[in-house]
Amino acid sequence: MIIENKEEIKLTDWGQVKEAFRSKHLRQAGYSEGAVVMGDTLLDLHGLEHRERRRLENRLFRREIFSYWEHEILGSTISATLDPFVAQGNGDLAQIGYRCGMNLTATIAGIDQDPKDEMQTEMLYSKVKKFSEGATLLHSTRDKNEVRSEVVDAMNLFKEDFYVPSKSRREKMLEQYSNNEISEDQLPKDVLTTLLSNTNQLDLPEEVIFREICFYLQAGAHSTANAFTHTVDDLFTWGEKQPKDLDLARADLTFVQRCMHESLRLNPASPVAIRTPLEEVILSDGTVLHKGTLVVLDLIEANRDTLIFGESADSFDPYRDVPDGIPRWGMSFGAGSHACVGAELDGGLEIDPSRPLDEALYGTVAVMVHAFLSAGGSKDNLNPPLLDLNSERKHFSRYPVVFLP
Ligand code: HEM
Repeated sequence: MIIENKEEIKLTDWGQVKEAFRSKHLRQAGYSEGAVVMGDTLLDLHGLEHRERRRLENRLFRREIFSYWEHEILGSTISATLDPFVAQGNGDLAQIGYRCGMNLTATIAGIDQDPKDEMQTEMLYSKVKKFSEGATLLHSTRDKNEVRSEVVDAMNLFKEDFYVPSKSRREKMLEQYSNNEISEDQLPKDVLTTLLSNTNQLDLPEEVIFREICFYLQAGAHSTANAFTHTVDDLFTWGEKQPKDLDLARADLTFVQRCMHESLRLNPASPVAIRTPLEEVILSDGTVLHKGTLVVLDLIEANRDTLIFGESADSFDPYRDVPDGIPRWGMSFGAGSHACVGAELDGGLEIDPSRPLDEALYGTVAVMVHAFLSAGGSKDNLNPPLLDLNSERKHFSRYPVVFLP
């Protein structure tokens, strides 16, 4: 569905955005322009088709798998990525973030690559960055067909270098499993294996599985890296006034998770979600959403709604009290049927002091930030960060950091 020159309405209040996310009559509309990479992916589906695909993929996004991931995979992948920067004593925060985010997301998506091989990570990331440009084509000011053709080139290279070998390895293992040569436990726990072992059930064409993996790579890597960079930056800024809290973050993962949730509220990786009403929808405050229009759900504004987050909603405060039932990260993981499947993986479980410690999950981003800080990661005071002046949002074009003993 391509929507051009449509009437547009922006929703900015917490209540309106939440209701719009949950309405069955509002269809995803943010990715039609980017169909080259997003067509028929989970985020682009609606209704029954979406529910069936989601049910299948949810098999992977379960708490036991998150626990296995956080305890068995995360630490080794993060240290393989972080160690070279620590050894050289410096690095760029954004580069550390996207390399870690890329290596971790490749593991979850089911793309084989060695996190110790920096060149390979960079090569994969350069393709995935292009997929993101394709996915967000709706907002692009470049010639859209030119971007589409670059995305196709990147997808073809990715297919040859990464996808085909990863798929063949999984197909062989699935065959060994069906011949009882290996156990279910020995199968990789990733999206590609989950899809390959259920292709018949959903009648999934080969090209859709391929695009689903391209989509997962860009959805996971970009948002994980974004959340990492912003959490560290917010912590450094907060630490200038509250140095004890920066020391606390270097030692205490629980506190880092609290900071990550607050930072994510202020800096959602996707600042807007876009929907179109399949029929007229009237929100409970009387706002009418006409059929076929473009409805923009403004997550930045909703996450700073003072009625929910108080008068200081615009500022970073890890000690903020939030009302019962309101997630600390606001609407940054979306809500309703398309709510992020990676929310617990990246954000961990909601903070609950009554939960036993051995059941706690802190999430990928908090673990990354804690690893960076406990390795002595600090702002390079001689080389301050530079904001990207071409971006309306807070993006850094460089963010030098040093590792202090
Ligand atoms: C801090 C990190 C992340 C943030 C802020 C984030 C944010 C979001 C948001 C806002 C949506 C909903 C978009 C909409 O309704 O239009 C979403 C959906 C999704 N996210 Fe994430 N995400 C993050 C990490 C991840 C990771 C690590 C993965 C997977 C490895 C992932 C996979 C997905 C998928 C598959 C969907 C589509 C769900 C559906 O349509 O049913 N995300 N994410």
